Amino acid sequence: MRMKRYVLFLSVLSLLLMASISFAGRSGEEIFQTMACGACHKMEESTPMNPSVAKIAEAYQGKKQQLIDYLNGESEPIIDPAKANLMKSSLRRTKELPEEERVALAEYMLSAQ
Ligand code: HEC
Repeated sequence: MRMKRYVLFLSVLSLLLMASISFAGRSGEEIFQTMACGACHKMEESTPMNPSVAKIAEAYQGKKQQLIDYLNGESEPIIDPAKANLMKSSLRRTKELPEEERVALAEYMLSAQ
């Protein structure tokens, strides 16, 4: 009996551990979806209001660090600064991400070309 409980305890423990590891390592795509960036940014087609992810990837090709800095509020917008206020509340949230998630988010957007 005791042994069974111990094994059960160990399996629950390892499940919890795995869950917390996968939480720490969210992919860029998961972050993009969880933060509802896609509500404004379609993958391929820009709308009159919002640049597509492909357009963002094109503008930031070879400038990954600049994109990370932008998502951290440390670099000015380069695509449509006149509409920069539409990004304000999203930027407030991307600034609060842990650095490795900001990097994953930038890499995800850059891969969309
Ligand atoms: C309410 C609509 C809206 C939402 C939600 C939104 N964006 Fe944007 N985003 C815009 C608009 C409009 C622009 C163009 C303005 C600009 O370039 O500053 C833009 C521009 C950008 C740019 C290019 C900035 C540049 O250099 O000009 C990036 C990168 C970006 N968004 C990432 C994101 C990410 C990541 C999220 C989710 C966390 C997000 N956006 C959510 C509307 C939105």
